[in-house]
Amino acid sequence: MASSSGTNLSAAIRQSPPVDLTIPYEPSWIKDKTILITGGASGFGAGFVRHWAKHGATIIVGDINVEKGNTLVRQVQQETGNKNIHFVHCDVTDWQSQVKLFKEAIKLSLHGGIDTVVANAGIAGDDPLQQPKGLSAAEPPKPNFKIMDVNCTGVLYTTHLAYYWLPRNPGSIPSSMDSNPSKSNRDRHLLFLGSVASLAPIALQPQYGAAKHAVLGLFRSLRASSHIQGVRVNLLCPYFIDTPIVTTSARIALAGGSLGKVEDVVDAATRFVADERILGRALVIGPKIHVKQLEDGEWKLVEKNAPGSRETAIWEAYADDWEEVDAFSKNLVRVLNALQASRGWIGWATDMVRAVGYGFGFGRR
Ligand SMILES: NC(=O)c1ccc[n+]([C@@H]2O[C@H](COP(=O)([O-])OP(=O)(O)OC[C@H]3O[C@@H](n4cnc5c(N)ncnc54)[C@H](O)[C@@H]3O)[C@@H](O)[C@H]2O)c1
Repeated sequence: MASSSGTNLSAAIRQSPPVDLTIPYEPSWIKDKTILITGGASGFGAGFVRHWAKHGATIIVGDINVEKGNTLVRQVQQETGNKNIHFVHCDVTDWQSQVKLFKEAIKLSLHGGIDTVVANAGIAGDDPLQQPKGLSAAEPPKPNFKIMDVNCTGVLYTTHLAYYWLPRNPGSIPSSMDSNPSKSNRDRHLLFLGSVASLAPIALQPQYGAAKHAVLGLFRSLRASSHIQGVRVNLLCPYFIDTPIVTTSARIALAGGSLGKVEDVVDAATRFVADERILGRALVIGPKIHVKQLEDGEWKLVEKNAPGSRETAIWEAYADDWEEVDAFSKNLVRVLNALQASRGWIGWATDMVRAVGYGFGFGRR
């Protein structure tokens, strides 16, 4: 549930206030929702499938790994008794493959629409920008930018298809922070998998860092205009979490620290999927720690059971950005609009003549 502070500001920038993580949410709100997950056969995706199947969702997993996908679906159907869990082969880097995944999801959906799309598929690993190959050749061979293809282009394809299908979800209405998640089942929600690498540099993985920064940029740009299609967008930014994507070399580099747990990523994602009042928010997920909030708002790491402390793995990100950047952009646009209005029709006509002239090459240097 989102806190109610700053309601006027949130109305102006059409984004819900920072999430109050101390307020519980109700996972049963996801019952009967249709959820499409790319890369859902392993790691976080598999965690989402297991948890949301228990709560009665219809889930369509699209993944390149047919064996893992089919096995997961079979197991989850057996364990939960929920038969509405399906696997469809999909390579997110292939536009037609994603088109087919979304069409299949519409056919398999019990209500003929999709409520939540989770743009989750992702890879990491060898990066030619970090470990160039073929340096003895006369010229460098074409690099393999697969990480960018999957983690950026694949996400753009998913976004484009989500923006087509979500507003067509029968019975859905434009998302709003005033909606009542206990009454409504239809939604229009796009959930992105960013990373802490969306917010900070990631050493030795420049392509991964670039792709995850792109996902952050996509999320921040879309949330500023999501009211147009009535689609709500949210973002998860996990730290290193124990799934197969974390390579052996990363595990060695992190030795002595701790990896986060899939269950905490599932918890953060479930809050987003269940609570339709959350619009345009980002959560960071890391290992569970005990912290105490100081008077200046900063968090201090403390011993377990220290007075006034709490255990948490999930953090609200971009709270300040929400007030300082989005509100600033909104005000800037308002001021520029006011300037335009003050120039009146003559200003508009002058600019139009200049713009058309520019098309014919006048005024270009
Ligand atoms: N685990 C972490 O530490 C961590 C941290 C931050 C962000 N993430 C992000 O979370 C998402 C899920 O990662 P995970 O940790 O569950 O990893 P994972 O390797 O367990 O799962 C990724 C899934 O994506 C699938 N996939 C890969 N390429 C694909 C393609 N071209 N088309 C369709 N499916 C494809 C894989 O088959 C796999 O099932 C990724 O976007 C990842 O970048 C993970």
